[in-house]
Amino acid sequence: MRVGMPVGADGDVSFHLNGMPCTARRGDTVLTAILLQGDRLRASPFSLAPRAGFCLMGACQDCWVQCADGSRVRACTTLVEAGMALLCPLPPTPTPAVRAGTDAVPGDVPPGDVP
Ligand code: FES
Repeated sequence: MRVGMPVGADGDVSFHLNGMPCTARRGDTVLTAILLQGDRLRASPFSLAPRAGFCLMGACQDCWVQCADGSRVRACTTLVEAGMALLCPLPPTPTPAVRAGTDAVPGDVPPGDVP
């Protein structure tokens, strides 16, 4: 989602994602900027299923992203800025309980079951 800026109106924005240089369009949200780089924003802490935000309007809190400076931003309501250093860690190794399915949350899709 681009907020308030037509495509190409003010150029590109350079930022880093997990230390890798990336480019987004000025007016992109952090959520959009990250999803342009890959298929997920983070992993569910319960099932490790990929997550990419839910409400996209600042209500569900499903899109918080860690910054390299220790701060966190709500990705769907924060515009990407030049020089941002964002961190989206790979999913952690599943615990035995997660592997056994005992920590599963209804509606979460186990990794590998995503079509
Ligand atoms: S996707 Fe719901 S708060 Fe960001």
